[in-house]
Amino acid sequence: MGTYNLLKGKRGIIFGALDENSIAWKVAIRAKEEGANFVLTNSPLALRRKEIFELAKKTGTQVIATDITEVSELEDLFEESMKILGGKIDFVLHSVGMSPNVRKNIPYIELDYDYMHKTLDVSAISLHKVLAVAKKLDAINEGGSVVALTYIAAHRTFSSYSDMANAKSMLESIVRQFGYHYGVAKNVRINSVSQSPTRTTAGSGVSGFNAFFNYANSMSPLGNADADSCANTCMFLFSDLSKMITMQTIYNDGGFSSMGISNKLINQYIDAGCGEDK
Ligand SMILES: NC(=O)c1ccc[n+]([C@@H]2O[C@H](COP(=O)([O-])OP(=O)(O)OC[C@H]3O[C@@H](n4cnc5c(N)ncnc54)[C@H](O)[C@@H]3O)[C@@H](O)[C@H]2O)c1
Repeated sequence: MGTYNLLKGKRGIIFGALDENSIAWKVAIRAKEEGANFVLTNSPLALRRKEIFELAKKTGTQVIATDITEVSELEDLFEESMKILGGKIDFVLHSVGMSPNVRKNIPYIELDYDYMHKTLDVSAISLHKVLAVAKKLDAINEGGSVVALTYIAAHRTFSSYSDMANAKSMLESIVRQFGYHYGVAKNVRINSVSQSPTRTTAGSGVSGFNAFFNYANSMSPLGNADADSCANTCMFLFSDLSKMITMQTIYNDGGFSSMGISNKLINQYIDAGCGEDK
């Protein structure tokens, strides 16, 4: 993959790099290659795992601890980032998701509602908080770009995705709603990238992940999109090349979202002894 200086001189904030499998990790590496300066942020709990500091070293960036659900911490994050980077922010990556119900394998019809509130707060409402703080502080430059990571379970039922599906529906709705208000006020663009199943800490937490992964891979004409390809899509969305794209869900999924069934899956069923024509 070549580099194109797509983000030369741009300043960013990247949420969600936990370890080298994280989608945000790959985005940070690519953003550096494309000439951006940015700040990395994650929860205090994630920082204790220390891997993020390796990424900071690799990319010559600073790390700020922020619980994305705490508005006052987000205010400090934006103020501090503008100081460190020497000006207003051009791009923000929201690559954050977590469901205690999924983690504890609680069936969807028996959800724990305190956990569900936590799921929605961390995985969806947090995007509203980030945008509201940025808007209040006027911290994002005209034409700036915000990208959140989502999954097709926002629109279709994936039996084990549980309340994360509800969170992703809300997240995509916030992208559209806030995208209107921030677009009119400051030309700030807000989009989400709907990513294929990807082997990360959050991804692998969904029960039956390997089946998810292999099913999507067999269904998609291009196969599953990996985290590196997701990072490339983010580069495009952060860059001026996508200047008129806002309020969208962009599918980085190898074609999965347009499929019904593929020959590969049909043949897998036939090989397994089911579905053979009589
Ligand atoms: N992996 C997949 O299959 C897949 C597919 C589609 C979308 N996504 C989405 O991509 C995004 C990134 O996930 P990932 O797959 O890279 O996994 P990941 O586990 O590497 O990243 C999730 C991040 O959320 C952070 N986080 C959790 N609670 C937080 C809090 N209170 N404050 C700040 N940060 C917090 C974690 O520390 C972690 O860095 C998520 O929104 C996820 O839903 C993932």
